[in-house]
Amino acid sequence: MDLDQNNDIRSRIRTIPDFPKPGIQFRDITTLLLDAEGLKLTIDRMAAQVQGPVDLVAGIEARGFLFASALAMRLETGVLLVRKDGKLPGATIAEDYALEYGTDRIAIHADACAPGARVLLVDDLIATGGTARAAVRLLHKAGAVVVQAAFVVDLPELGGAAALRDDGVAVSALVV
Ligand code: PRP
Ligand code: ADE
Repeated sequence: MDLDQNNDIRSRIRTIPDFPKPGIQFRDITTLLLDAEGLKLTIDRMAAQVQGPVDLVAGIEARGFLFASALAMRLETGVLLVRKDGKLPGATIAEDYALEYGTDRIAIHADACAPGARVLLVDDLIATGGTARAAVRLLHKAGAVVVQAAFVVDLPELGGAAALRDDGVAVSALVV
């Protein structure tokens, strides 16, 4: 997609300097979510970027859940939750990862998808790629085929999308 076409989405995302730590330019999608037209445009365009059939949409806690759920409705799939560790009630598999501003651990239910399921991974933003790459590792452990990773925002200077592509995952983003 021509990046200029997404200026209407870009303009609805605000930047908060020094959150959650000094030096971080926080790209805040709450303003996009508050805007009915902006939210609809976002889901329409994310759906349009999906390549090929998808059996399940995997959403990353917390902001990724919003976009994953809306996309799953469009694609007529279920939603697989990639949660911060300790939140899922069943047997889980977990991965540690580093973020732009710390470290964390995410988990999925060990039985969340059938072997060979074609999964679209969704999050609001990719920065270092630590979160998305950990999610891909988990999905692979569960037997999924990660067909694509879709984001609203890519911060390319942090290298996450490039690393994910090097891992063999197709990446799409609306605002770079
Ligand atoms: C943010 C964002 C992504 C991740 C991207 O989530 O929603 O999941 O950071 O960073 P990375 O590419 O460097 O891994 P955060 O952990 O802040 O959680 P939240 O969605 O619960 O606010
Ligand atoms: N997650 C990681 N880095 C981020 C940033 N700069 N803005 C919003 N969410 C983020």
